[in-house]
Amino acid sequence: MARLNPVFVCGSCGGETLKWQGQCPLCGAWNSLEERRAPRSRAVPAAVAVNLSPGAALADAGVRLSSGQAELDRVLGGGIVPGSVILLGGDPGIGKSTLLLQVAAHVAASRPAIYASGEESIAQVGLRAQRLGVAAEALGVVAETDCQAVLALAAARQAALLVIDSIQTLQSGAAPAGAGAVTQLRECTSELVRYAKAGGAAVVIVGHVTKEGSIAGPKLLEHLVDTVLYFESEAGSRYRIVRATKNRFGAVNELGFFAMTGSGLREVKNPSAIFLARPAQPAPGSIVTVTREGGRPLLIELQALVDRMRFGAPRRVAQGLDANRLAMLLAVVNRHAGLALQEHDVFVNAVGGIQICETAWDLPVALALASTLKGVPLPTQLVAFGELGLTGEVRPVPYGDERLREAQAQGFAVAVIPRDNAPRRAPAGLSVRAVGTVAEALEAAFAR
Ligand code: TYD
Ligand code: MG
Repeated sequence: MARLNPVFVCGSCGGETLKWQGQCPLCGAWNSLEERRAPRSRAVPAAVAVNLSPGAALADAGVRLSSGQAELDRVLGGGIVPGSVILLGGDPGIGKSTLLLQVAAHVAASRPAIYASGEESIAQVGLRAQRLGVAAEALGVVAETDCQAVLALAAARQAALLVIDSIQTLQSGAAPAGAGAVTQLRECTSELVRYAKAGGAAVVIVGHVTKEGSIAGPKLLEHLVDTVLYFESEAGSRYRIVRATKNRFGAVNELGFFAMTGSGLREVKNPSAIFLARPAQPAPGSIVTVTREGGRPLLIELQALVDRMRFGAPRRVAQGLDANRLAMLLAVVNRHAGLALQEHDVFVNAVGGIQICETAWDLPVALALASTLKGVPLPTQLVAFGELGLTGEVRPVPYGDERLREAQAQGFAVAVIPRDNAPRRAPAGLSVRAVGTVAEALEAAFAR
């Protein structure tokens, strides 16, 4: 199949680029690029191995581009890797175009960047940029759905960043005529991947997720790209979470927090605070715990309420926590801490609508239950975490040090934690009370 552009092949590493350069951007060899106009022959291609000496490997990796959003950079593992392909999936209307226009405009201030929209006209993109208040003069905006045309433009402008919004609107002439959506999707994505790997430009692809789990969703493309990000949101919430589900250049399951505002997406610098809007007056039954969601510690308020049962069997209701585990905890605190709740309805709630999937909430819930039963508030400067065993012992949880540091950073003064999580040196200003049993924990938490 004929190519629209000449391809330059490196005589040393065999890599392809779209433009001639003195130095091969892949292996760093000088004067090794040769033009190859003829369509690729069917002859067996020669595979060339490159030895990964530090110099050769790193010459190509270059410096990561900052997206301008610290939260997004974090999720990516420290910024956008040149030559990488990132897929951003998410429901329609969640803010993919908004985020990427902000990112593209930020990158464009220092490097050439192209934002190719197949869904909106240039005027619409312009209006959005105005609304976002981003300086987009340097950004190349193109309303185009032809894959080769977009790639030719990006090559001509030597773009360091190419945003494709969205992959579902892109068409490739290289796919057989009348090819279905899936073939088009795959062909366009492969072309973009080839382009990114050859020229060293970073490519960000938007993919819509359809509610019906339609085959046109980005699931198909995940194995082709380097990084897969998903945009998530609770229904009706203005907070958005970006989650990395695959990342060749960083950790997976990292979370980035954003808020949708009247002027675009703003990063939430202090996600702990989202879940921590507490009343000024200490109230019985309320406690703060440090949980660990998506690779980072989060402070969350837990609340418990017990009420004399009116009729029938006592009710046990858990919001955001596992109800079976709550039943087990009630037995533990009854037996080992003397909290008799057999004749009470019990309600516990993780404030902010978050689901906690680990066991570190055992100990704080036990403390909150004691607090509500006695009608005595816990100190507001107190945090607690830890797992409870059936014999009333307090068991350690992973990442104890990290949780303590986060509690200290948020201004908490006292931490009731498992003995096995006790740090050699507590963070400055944080008084750590390490406990071995639930009875000890109650004593430590209510001590002044
Ligand atoms: P959009 O980025 O178009 O979503 P996607 O590309 O994922 O389909 O986001 C659209 C929504 O965001 C729309 O409902 C309006 C809202 N929005 C704001 O709240 N503030 C803004 O500044 C912008 C640009 C959009
Ligand atoms: Mg969009």
